[in-house]
Amino acid sequence: MTARIIRIALASLVGLMIAAGIAWWQVKTAQEMTTSGAAAVGGPFALVDHTGRPVTDADFRGKHLLVYFGYTYCPDVCPTELGVMAQAMDRLGPLAEKVQPLFITVDPKRDTVAHMAGYVELFHPRLVGLTGTPEQTAAAAKAYRVYHAVPTGQDAAGGDYLVDHSSFIYLMGPDGAFQRVFAAGAEPDQIAADIRSRLAG
Ligand code: NI
Repeated sequence: MTARIIRIALASLVGLMIAAGIAWWQVKTAQEMTTSGAAAVGGPFALVDHTGRPVTDADFRGKHLLVYFGYTYCPDVCPTELGVMAQAMDRLGPLAEKVQPLFITVDPKRDTVAHMAGYVELFHPRLVGLTGTPEQTAAAAKAYRVYHAVPTGQDAAGGDYLVDHSSFIYLMGPDGAFQRVFAAGAEPDQIAADIRSRLAG
């Protein structure tokens, strides 16, 4: 009985430490991204969209990009943030045509093209889902400094598992350069207002 309680307490502690670690990493990265600026975040990627078409970052030039990394099996954070992105698109009205929202998976093993197709349409008709080989999606995540990991002890080979990942909405310019990041909690109105002012300026 006592051993079991200790085990549960230890497991909770490890969980808290992981959560604290990710939170710390997110704050640190957000600070770095704000201070070190454009060159550090984003970059070339080669992926496959949810219709099965191979795409690169160059295919999206000329439009602002809203980029979010996550995975379709995510129970809470990803659906919330993709919802925020979708609402921001709606708030933009006709200006939304100048913005391309992208959802890039950090779980390509389960997020197949067909699976992504069924998922993105739940959020917004303009949302493009991107997947690829594990190497391709890992390279994209690395370029955007996205933290992602399957916690040890979870069976990644079979069955369900969760993926720890950082959660940012990146805004990239029509030239593909990093413009800013929206952390969790950003409101759709705030994102839409920011984009609207950039399009006006
Ligand atoms: Ni998620």
